[in-house]
Amino acid sequence: MKFELAQVRSEIPQLAVKVRERDLVYLDNAATTLKPKSVIDRLSQYYLEEVANVHRGAHWLAENGTGLYENARQTVATFIGSESPADIVFTRGTTESLNLVAQSLVLLGQLKSDHQNRGLVAGDEVFVTELEHHSNIVPWQLACERSGAKLRVIPVTDDGEIDLQSFRKQISAKTKIVAFSCCSNVLGTITKPSDVVAIAKSVDAIVVVDAAQMVTAEKMEVSSWGADFVVFSGHKIFAPFGIGVLWAAKGWLDILPPYQGGGSMIDSVTFEKTTWAHAPQKFEAGTPNVGGAVALGRAIEWFHSHGSIEAMAHAKNLAEEARRELARIPGLRIYGNPSVRTSVVSFNLDGVHASDLGTLLDQQGIAIRAGHHCCQPLMKRLACAATARASFSIYNQMKDVEALVASVRKAKEILL
Ligand code: ALA
Repeated sequence: MKFELAQVRSEIPQLAVKVRERDLVYLDNAATTLKPKSVIDRLSQYYLEEVANVHRGAHWLAENGTGLYENARQTVATFIGSESPADIVFTRGTTESLNLVAQSLVLLGQLKSDHQNRGLVAGDEVFVTELEHHSNIVPWQLACERSGAKLRVIPVTDDGEIDLQSFRKQISAKTKIVAFSCCSNVLGTITKPSDVVAIAKSVDAIVVVDAAQMVTAEKMEVSSWGADFVVFSGHKIFAPFGIGVLWAAKGWLDILPPYQGGGSMIDSVTFEKTTWAHAPQKFEAGTPNVGGAVALGRAIEWFHSHGSIEAMAHAKNLAEEARRELARIPGLRIYGNPSVRTSVVSFNLDGVHASDLGTLLDQQGIAIRAGHHCCQPLMKRLACAATARASFSIYNQMKDVEALVASVRKAKEILL
């Protein structure tokens, strides 16, 4: 279906809500996206009519629920270009997916198996980049502490791009894992996964791609990226909170040990020994978020139904316009100038704290994020404590850009 902005906007109920008695200008889409009515309705329908636990139960509803859940897995697989739904694990979100991979790789290095040497052990190195949000740093710090591996950092250039030249120089036979975001939540930098993969695979390193911001930025083709793991959250792509995705390249889910045990992930249990269900169930201990998965499936369908490619280009155009117009304000600094980027603009006004700017914009009904954006090391690199960040989605309009720019100008007059 073709992208039609008015139609898209009409399907997002929250856009009609008044904030501080003003029309909402929602520019915090990198934190979370608003939810389409059809996604909310799908979730309600599940809870009103279809609730049942999955993969168990001898009744119609349980069978139906299992079908819905597994169909959602297929929808996700098709959306991200995965060869098989069996390569998709449902999690609570990006953070849980990253912790799952990190901890399972530590366990793999500890447990005697034919694949022990593929796990993380003392002497290994794990690379992250200066662009990462905390969810792609802290799980690796924990993994390093627990395994004796060392955390290393790939710098970013002044333009805000991952410095691949530096990375090339730093890697060695010790490099076991490279974890990076292919789309920065602060600078919008898009890094082609295959560029990082080409370097990492020269030393046979495992590549973990954080695609939290990529899902609404560019078409995903995970099977052709050459990475080992890709993660994202549903709530950044119009779905509810609490549902996320881990994609793993063929073979990984078979050799990784589970890091959580419980119901749903077992084949058989005795007090002496438990055997695991096949992947992906092996990594989905406990009752899964069936409603969340079903709603994620609907969110992806909704995105497609509005011409996702054209829709993503629309959001990027708005961000580029905002970048151009904000840059004309004297004393305003925009952070990062990556050559390929998505719909995020980070900025500061000289002499104004980002949170004061955020507060003044909020009073005018404009929702941005001001702070470190869960990226304290990146703030250090940018030599600031915080930035104001406007992030655009497919339902934003040129009027939102105009409102943002006018409000920043007004805030400048008030604060300086
Ligand atoms: N990483 C999310 C953001 O950028 C939470 O807002």
